[in-house]
Amino acid sequence: MFRFGVDYYPEHWPEERWALDARLMQEAGFNTVRLAEFAWSRLEPAPGRFDFDWLDRAIAILQERGLQVVLGTPTASPPPWVMAMHPDAHRVLPSGLRVAYGNRRNYCPTHAGYRERGRIITQAMAEHYAHHPAVIGWQIDNEFGDRCYCEHCRAAFHVWLQHKYQSLDALNEAWGTVFWSQVYTEWSQIPVPLETAAPFGDGSHNPGLALDYYRFLSDQYVAFQREQVAILRRRCPGHFITHNMMGAGYDRLNYFDLAADLDFVSWDNYRRMQWTFRPEVIPSEAALSHAAMRGLKHKNFWVMEQQAGAGGWQIVSVAPRPGELRLWAYQSIAHGADAIIFFRWRTARFGTEQYWHGLLEHDGRAGRRYAEIKQMGAEIARVGAEIAGSEVRANIAILLDYDSRFAFQIQANNPAFQYTNHLHDIYQAFHRRNLAVDVVSGRDDFSRYKLLIAPALYVLTEETARRIEAFVQNGGVLMTTPRTGVKDATNTVVNMPPPGLLAGVCGVEVEEYDSLPEGVSQPLAFVQSDFHNGPPPHARIWCDVLRPSSAQPVALYTQDYYAGKPAITENRYGAGRAVYVGTFGDGQLYAALVDWLLDLANLRSEISTPPGVEWSTRWRGDRPIHFVLNHTRERQPVNLKGRMRNLLNGEALESGVLELPPYQAAILTAEPVDDPMEDKVSGEKLAGAYGR
Ligand code: GAL
Repeated sequence: MFRFGVDYYPEHWPEERWALDARLMQEAGFNTVRLAEFAWSRLEPAPGRFDFDWLDRAIAILQERGLQVVLGTPTASPPPWVMAMHPDAHRVLPSGLRVAYGNRRNYCPTHAGYRERGRIITQAMAEHYAHHPAVIGWQIDNEFGDRCYCEHCRAAFHVWLQHKYQSLDALNEAWGTVFWSQVYTEWSQIPVPLETAAPFGDGSHNPGLALDYYRFLSDQYVAFQREQVAILRRRCPGHFITHNMMGAGYDRLNYFDLAADLDFVSWDNYRRMQWTFRPEVIPSEAALSHAAMRGLKHKNFWVMEQQAGAGGWQIVSVAPRPGELRLWAYQSIAHGADAIIFFRWRTARFGTEQYWHGLLEHDGRAGRRYAEIKQMGAEIARVGAEIAGSEVRANIAILLDYDSRFAFQIQANNPAFQYTNHLHDIYQAFHRRNLAVDVVSGRDDFSRYKLLIAPALYVLTEETARRIEAFVQNGGVLMTTPRTGVKDATNTVVNMPPPGLLAGVCGVEVEEYDSLPEGVSQPLAFVQSDFHNGPPPHARIWCDVLRPSSAQPVALYTQDYYAGKPAITENRYGAGRAVYVGTFGDGQLYAALVDWLLDLANLRSEISTPPGVEWSTRWRGDRPIHFVLNHTRERQPVNLKGRMRNLLNGEALESGVLELPPYQAAILTAEPVDDPMEDKVSGEKLAGAYGR
C-alpha cells in the first residue's frame, strides 16, 4: 500500500478543530498521519504521570476518516522537568560550553538518567498503543545526531576504548601517542576532543583519538535508539519501527549502523529552506539523498517529512513555486519512496517554527498548497498501488564511507574540499544522464554493479580494499579519486604511497601531491585529442602527481612543475579496469568522464532529456514505470521511445513527444505493442514488449 499523509500536531490546536482537520486530510487523499513526536510534556506532564486521553481522542477522530497513525517517541524534545531533573544531560559543545534549555535535540545521548526517562516514556506509549487498531508503527526520536563532549561521554568513551583496544599499549600504538609525548598510562587520562588552542578546534587532537571519538558518539546514538527499539519490538511486535534521517548531507552519524536496527529508513526532504536561500533548486541534490537513504538497507524508504511550504525560523525561505511541492514528492517516489508524509499539516502560530509553512495557513485556510497536494492525493489513489513496492535498479554504485567522512572532518586536507560536495559533483554527472545510482557502504556486495565509484576513500581497511580488488578482478570498473588509501582504520597514514592498498589495482602510485589555494586551477589535457569535446575540464583543490606502474595515462596536467605528468590513469586489472582520477574537479570534470566510464563498464545512458528534466525509473518485475520531472520554470519537450501512457492523467502519448509544463511531472508506462508475441491468456509480455 502506498502511504500518503501528513505530520500533525493536534496538541497545537483547539480540540474543536480536529474534526475539520481530519475531514480535510481525508479529502486530500491521505491515509496516514504521524503524531506525537514532540508531545512529551503533554504525554507525561510530570514524572511517571501519563496522559494519553487527548491523543486517544485525536486518533479516534482521524481513525473515523480512515487515517492510520505512526507515533513518534518524543525524546528529541524533553519537557523542562526532565532537564531540571538532569541538568547535566544538556549536551556539551566542542568549546566546552553546556547548551542551555530552549532548543531540541540538545540532550547527551550517553546520559544514563536521560536514557532512563526515554525508556520510561517509550514503554508507557508502547503499552498504551500496542493493540490500538489505528496505530501501524513508530518513528524513534527525531533526526538523531549532534555531538556531545561532556563528562558522561568521556567516561563512556573510556569504556568503549577499553573494549576496543583491550590494553593501553595497543591504544598508544594505534594512535601513535609517542608524538608530542601523549602516551597514556591510565584510561582516565584520555580526553575527549574538546577544542584545544583556537582556532584549530578538533583538528589539533590526535587524529586517531578524534576518529575513535566520532565513531564512539555515532555508536552512542545507535545504542540510544536500540533501547527504544527493544521496548517497541517486545511490546508492539505487529508495528514497524523507523527513524527520520536527514539525507546524504548529514555527516555526524554512521547512518548504515543506525539503519541496521530499523525495519526501513525514513528521511526528511526539504528543498527550499531559509538556510540555503537560493533562487533555484538543484534536483540532483535531492536525488542523491534519496539514493543514499535507499542504499542504507537496499530497500524502499519513507519520506517522513516532505516539504509542504516555505521553510522558516527567523528568516522565511523562498516560497515553493506552484507545482514544486508535488514535483518534489514525485521525485521522492521516483527514487524509491513508498510513502510521502508532508511536514506539516497547519502552519504553527507559536513556537520556534512559526514560519515553517504547512499545507494550511496559520489561520487554518486550505489554499494553493493544499489544493496542489489534494490533486496529488487523487492521483495517488489511482497509481499508488501500482507504484508501491516497485524498485529502483542500478548498475552503478557510489561508495559512501563514514570513517573517511569523519576523518575529513578532523583533517579536511584542503579548505575547499568537502566530502559531500565531492560525492554530489560525481553523482550529478550520472544524474544528468538519467542513470540510476546506488549509494553503498564498504561492506556491501559490489558484485551486483558494473561501475563502482569510490570517491576519496581516505580511510581504507584491508577488507574493503580486498573486496574492491575482487570486484575489479571479476570484471568491474572502478573509479577512485584523490586521498584514497591514505589512512588505515586507526587514522594513521599508511606506510606506502597512495592509493595505498589500491595501488596495485589502479596500477599507479602518487609520487607527490599539491594542495591548491582557492581560485587556482589548471586545465587538463586528454592524451587522446578526441576524448572530450568542448572546453577542457580543470583540476582544482588537489593535484596528485601520478607515476603509473601498469596504468595508461588518460589526462595530463598542463601547468606548474608537474606539467605533462599524468592526472588521470586507466589500468586493466584482471577482467576489469581501474580509473584513478588524481584531482578534484567541479561537475565539468566528471561530466567529461561519464561517457568513457559508461563505455568501459558496458553501460549506456538510454534516455536523454533537456537540462533540468529528470527521468527516473522504478521496476515492477520486468515492467518499468518512468517518472519524468520538469524541474525548470519553462515548458519542456521530452522525446519518448515508443508509445507511452501517462498514468497521472490517462493520456496516451502517440506523438513520441511529451510536453511537460513548468514544475510538472508525468508517470509513464509503455503502451503494450500489438504484437504476436503476446500471450493473450496470461497477458504476459515476452521480452522486449515494453519499451524503456
Ligand atoms: C525537520 C524536523 C522537523 C521540523 C522541520 C522544519 O528537520 O524533523 O521537526 O523541525 O525540520 O524545521
